[in-house]
Amino acid sequence: MEVIIAETPDAVGRIAARIIAETVRIKPDAVLGLATGSSPMVVYAELARMRHATEIDLAATRGFALDEYVGLAPGHPASYAAVVQREIAEPLGMMFENVTVPDGGRPDHEQACREFEAAISDSGGIDVQLLGIGTNGHIGFNEPTSSLTSRTRIKTLTEQTRADNARFFNTAAEVPRHCITQGLGTILEAGQLILVAQGKGKARALAAAIEGPLSSMCPASLLQLHPRATVVVDEEAASQLSLADYYRYAFSSKPV
Ligand code: GLP
Repeated sequence: MEVIIAETPDAVGRIAARIIAETVRIKPDAVLGLATGSSPMVVYAELARMRHATEIDLAATRGFALDEYVGLAPGHPASYAAVVQREIAEPLGMMFENVTVPDGGRPDHEQACREFEAAISDSGGIDVQLLGIGTNGHIGFNEPTSSLTSRTRIKTLTEQTRADNARFFNTAAEVPRHCITQGLGTILEAGQLILVAQGKGKARALAAAIEGPLSSMCPASLLQLHPRATVVVDEEAASQLSLADYYRYAFSSKPV
């Protein structure tokens, strides 16, 4: 795992965006795994800037969202389908019809999950998966104790996650109790993983993910199993990493 400590949250965005841009330059129709939440927004902002500067063209890329709430009204502004369209596909110039979001509105959840997994397989697989991390170590919506080999499925959100995400809704009570999320086994199959995190609130979960044991109690520790995992964090999020100096040294003396 490569750990890159950036000086500022914006620098996190620039570094992660550069990794995605390299993939897209090599493969213009790359399949991107799209995370929502606030952490990856700096990455999308930088990709949108690169697009406007004609440094990158994302029009042929395809995308898969990581997760979706269950039971929100179609078009709800906090649904990840709406967020992906409004805050990712449109500013990046991706075709929204080329982006698949798990369908949280279908009564037959199991079938919706099977179809989502089949769509990933049919695309040839996700080339690069962007991830955030929850304060309890979740990735996607894989809450602690999620099986490390899990596939896309319905999950019950922890009260911690519901409270953390209440800021995207009018009231805390409106936050759904259930979601559909790519499984940890699904995420592990992506060609490359990039996890971004900013702020002190993520420091404990991040240290557990990078330097703690591989454990379903910290789902983000799954990155330890992936041969191409990069973690890009700001100083505050890195504040509990015991090997921070080593990560800085390794990055600054990286062979070219
Ligand atoms: C949500 C999302 C995750 C995200 C996490 C952290 O629960 N499902 O994909 O990583 O929140 O969100 P934020 O980046 O807003 O802190």
